[in-house]
Amino acid sequence: FAGDWRFIWASPSVETLPPMQGLELAFVGRSNVGKSSLINALTGRSGLARTSHTPGRTQELIFFEGPPDAGFRLVDMPGYGYASAPKTKIASWTKLIHQYLQGRSTLARVYVLIDSRHGLKDVDQEVLTTLDKSAVSYQIVLTKADQVKASELAERVAATSEALRKHPAAFPELVVTSSRSASGMPELRAAMIKVVTE
Ligand code: GTP
Ligand code: MG
Repeated sequence: FAGDWRFIWASPSVETLPPMQGLELAFVGRSNVGKSSLINALTGRSGLARTSHTPGRTQELIFFEGPPDAGFRLVDMPGYGYASAPKTKIASWTKLIHQYLQGRSTLARVYVLIDSRHGLKDVDQEVLTTLDKSAVSYQIVLTKADQVKASELAERVAATSEALRKHPAAFPELVVTSSRSASGMPELRAAMIKVVTE
């Protein structure tokens, strides 16, 4: 992860994806779960991905490229499950997310972000099912761990791990993170490096 990360491409639809080159690691999750913030924390570039207090900030697939020797790209995605956006927008984001997740051979792993305060919701389960069906490997990342007590976090980890047993394409271990405190970043970076080098 050392080196300069930069924005290279934004796709409002799957018809306009960048040419496939190297591997892609993508971040999905409900609106406001902290996808863009996580990309900034991982890369150490605070303004790289645009973040916002208001859900619905990221509206396209956003591709970032690291130094040439990194050999992989990071993909920020729109959030799903944001009820206050216009219905047509929600539908088009959801379609874009599901199409990209099902049809991209360079996609090495998907990180499904779950808010430590809320746990797995039905909309998350739908995405996990899409990933299971397309046999794309994925790992769960709990976000905003700084917002819950240790006891609640332990409960959330246990409940989420239990739910994952029903999902064949899920990586069994989850990573607990906070972009605010940077906890879990070394672990997540190491897991990602392993995916792209093995
Ligand atoms: P969309 O693009 O709208 O789908 O949202 P997103 O998932 O990219 O979320 P984003 O990174 O924009 O963060 C949403 C809000 O959560 C912002 O106000 C962030 O500052 C806040 N946030 C993100 N990560 C953390 C974290 O680890 N801890 C805390 N306390 N807040 C966080
Ligand atoms: Mg975002």
